[in-house]
Amino acid sequence: MDTEVDRTQMTAKFITFEGGEGVGKSTQIKRLVANLIKREIEAVRTREPGGTPRAEAIRSFLLQGKSEQWGPSAEAILFAAARLDHVNSMIKPNLESDKWVLSDRFCDSTRAYQGLTGGVPDELIDALETLALNGATPDLTILIDMDPELAFERVRKRAAEDGLNLPPDRYEKENIEWHRRLRRNFLDISRSNPERFVVVDGTQSVSDMESDIWAKVSERFSELAA
Ligand SMILES: Nc1ncnc2c1ncn2[C@@H]1O[C@H](COP(=O)(O)OP(=O)(O)O)[C@@H](O)[C@H]1O
Ligand SMILES: [Mg+2]
Repeated sequence: MDTEVDRTQMTAKFITFEGGEGVGKSTQIKRLVANLIKREIEAVRTREPGGTPRAEAIRSFLLQGKSEQWGPSAEAILFAAARLDHVNSMIKPNLESDKWVLSDRFCDSTRAYQGLTGGVPDELIDALETLALNGATPDLTILIDMDPELAFERVRKRAAEDGLNLPPDRYEKENIEWHRRLRRNFLDISRSNPERFVVVDGTQSVSDMESDIWAKVSERFSELAA
């Protein structure tokens, strides 16, 4: 493990996007990166699981369902292994060179999917989080919240427009009740961490959501105030 870094001395921020499938995370993270760069703030975008070559190798193993038979606790450990590499070889070095880092999913997805929805005990989730974050707690987490049925409509529309008929990944295959529970679990996590989270209404148009997110981010970080 590398040396502890005093994050309070850093100006670059670490922002994560969370929420279910199809709520608009990937769309909005690109817009927030562009809005930061427009203001001459260096910012990089990454994603989980993945974000580094080693972590991407674990990502494909996890998302193709090959790890399902291992059970949710072993999967949570695999996510943590991927995250530790992502934190140490991508997230921290960028923050240390004063680049803002924006991640499409991070630790709250493990807590929501494997922990609260998958039944992995809190103690294991807490221990893995401490280990894998290695001090890199997000400065801000943007939870995009909406009814999963509406979000799935969007995903289906995207696939149809792209002429795709891809097999669903393992989380897409879960039923709607499972996704409703996931939504409640993300909201519970946000209520337990009110100082870190902002919740954004995912039913807004793409540009309204972009403005809403920018208003919330610039309120949080005074250096962005125009
Ligand atoms: N605010 C929105 N209103 C309508 N459609 C949207 C909105 N945001 C994203 N989409 C569309 O919904 C689909 C899923 O969005 P995406 O950003 O990939 O979600 P996620 O990364 O959370 O799965 C895409 O086809 C995208 O173009
Ligand atoms: Mg996405």
